Amino acid sequence: MELAAAALAHACSSCTACELSGSRNRVVVSRGASTASLMLIGEAPGATEDQQGRPFVGRAGRLLDQLLIEAGLDPERDLYVCNALKCRPPGNRKPKRGELEACRPWLEQQITLVNPSVVCLLGATALAAVLDLRDPMSGLRGRWIERDGRRWMPLFHPSYLLRNPSRDPGGPFALTLSDLRQVRARLCQGDAASGAPLP
Ligand code: URA
Ligand code: SF4
Repeated sequence: MELAAAALAHACSSCTACELSGSRNRVVVSRGASTASLMLIGEAPGATEDQQGRPFVGRAGRLLDQLLIEAGLDPERDLYVCNALKCRPPGNRKPKRGELEACRPWLEQQITLVNPSVVCLLGATALAAVLDLRDPMSGLRGRWIERDGRRWMPLFHPSYLLRNPSRDPGGPFALTLSDLRQVRARLCQGDAASGAPLP
């Protein structure tokens, strides 16, 4: 499994299938555990990710890790994190449809490799790119979607939480924490059903 993950990362890191290959510093493939039953999919790398070659390592990523830990999940052990797009769009502009389409085979390979039972989609771009759903996040977040034998959970993007930092009950931070607790509870149920110890 780890070998397959390394082979995928190696192949992806020299991809030139879209114009972003000309402006990126590093291809940003994934971080976390490729054996996890939880996968998180974000939008695209930002400046820090493009420098370090790892997803969600800038401000949004630090907030994401904080939320995961508060929800009882270990960011390195319990999940695999990637983005719909593996290379940074210049100036962090929105990914273009053609770029997302060109990058889709990499994401498909990642989903096949990890074979997660639960997938969190972070923000509207990931939700549209992966499940082709375009309804407002406020109505979809926190609700399970069953598709292709997996359970999908849309969540607010951590960058949105940075722009809306209130931690009041009912605010986006509190809602996302409760969504992630729901995700963890679902994973624990799955583990209990398969006889594996609870995390
Ligand atoms: N935002 C994303 O969607 N992905 C990252 O990796 C970083 C910021
Ligand atoms: Fe390849 Fe995806 Fe990077 Fe485009 S964004 S060059 S398709 S890895």
